[in-house]
Amino acid sequence: MYQLSEENLAVRDAARDFAQQELKPGVIERDRKMQYPAEQVQAMANMGFLGMMTSPEYGGGGMDTMSYVLAMDEISRIDASCAVIMSVNNSLVCFGLEKYGTKEQKEKYLSRLAPGTWLGAFCLSEPEAGSDATSQRTTAVDQGDHYLLNGTKNWITNGSSSDIHLVMAQSDPEKGHKGINAFIVEAGWDGVNIGPKEDKLGIRSSDTTSITYTDVKVPKANRIGEDGFGFTFAMKTLSGGRIGIAAQALGIATGAYHLSLEYAQQREAFGKPIAKHQAISFKLADMATRIEAARLLVYQAAIRKDQGKDYALASSMAKLYAAETAMQVTVDAVQVHGGYGYVKEYHVERLMRDAKITQIYEGTSEIQKLIISRDILQGNLYVPTMV
Ligand code: CAA
Repeated sequence: MYQLSEENLAVRDAARDFAQQELKPGVIERDRKMQYPAEQVQAMANMGFLGMMTSPEYGGGGMDTMSYVLAMDEISRIDASCAVIMSVNNSLVCFGLEKYGTKEQKEKYLSRLAPGTWLGAFCLSEPEAGSDATSQRTTAVDQGDHYLLNGTKNWITNGSSSDIHLVMAQSDPEKGHKGINAFIVEAGWDGVNIGPKEDKLGIRSSDTTSITYTDVKVPKANRIGEDGFGFTFAMKTLSGGRIGIAAQALGIATGAYHLSLEYAQQREAFGKPIAKHQAISFKLADMATRIEAARLLVYQAAIRKDQGKDYALASSMAKLYAAETAMQVTVDAVQVHGGYGYVKEYHVERLMRDAKITQIYEGTSEIQKLIISRDILQGNLYVPTMV
């Protein structure tokens, strides 16, 4: 079995205290009002939670993926909106830039993103290109010293609160996905227009918008990687991002489970706590078992990434299973709470609404099954041991 390090445990405890003290107060109200958690995001930056895995050279925490997963889990138990803001900045934007950016790009952008001075967004989805990510309609036409960017991106987390967008766009349609490039775009540049905040089912206080780019001049120096590397960049970066969302789903499920366990031991019906009725105790048993299985898959994906092994398959398995677990567990948590579960004060209805998005963003459950089944059919399934 994998032993959590001293650093892992310290991060987990710090994130647990932080979530209780800084995120829990007001979480219901922020959800109700769709209020962006500006103070809480600043507090996450102060705690070093926005660039946890980035090298200290660029203002990050220099921690392993396991510490990041543990922090995501703890924060998601309380406030999944704050968790997605943190996840996108850490595992899509900072990780993508650190792994594939130039030294100049890292000095200019990563050194501001990792400490949370700036916030980033990852702009792949479009109104007509979600799961089918190779069919990018946004164009980036080579103009010599710069590209001219035109198009619309959809469902962008941190849409209006970000300073930097990592934007995927098609530069050579004849080459298909090999014509796609990835760019660093500053939110303040001419031609960048942010749409209104989406009124969502869950993660309501996080900020999701469309973004339109009209004749935006992007310097060549802001392209990430070689010409045509953009789709591979998006896929490789998303493999890490999915570990973060898997940890978010795990945290949502765990939060709902803890609330259900506590409630079931206090609430009495037919002369005894409802936890002593098999109808409820079996639900708790199912919740606990699913959560533990999800936890092992999430840890396995993080460990493989930390050990430098291929982790795309492990990350898809973790995201698929953790997201399905989050949905099932939160639906059961509402059921355990009965009528109380249906009102906002008891938190579980929010967790149920928040859980749904984990089956959709950073690749739907169906896309994870596509990725997993392709790997299996190609004979790539590794023996799933923990180390
Ligand atoms: N790493 C490296 N390369 C990869 C890869 C990976 N994990 N996955 C695919 N590729 C490569 C393939 O090898 C292939 O390259 P070659 O042609 O050179 O072999 C290329 O990418 C195209 O792949 P496919 O042929 O498999 O393309 P496809 O269209 O059949 O399938 C897909 C691609 C897996 C469905 C992909 O489009 C996908 O992952 N879709 C989901 C998109 C997604 O996750 N969107 C999330 C939006 S971001 C978000 O939600 C952020 C937020 O704000 C919260």
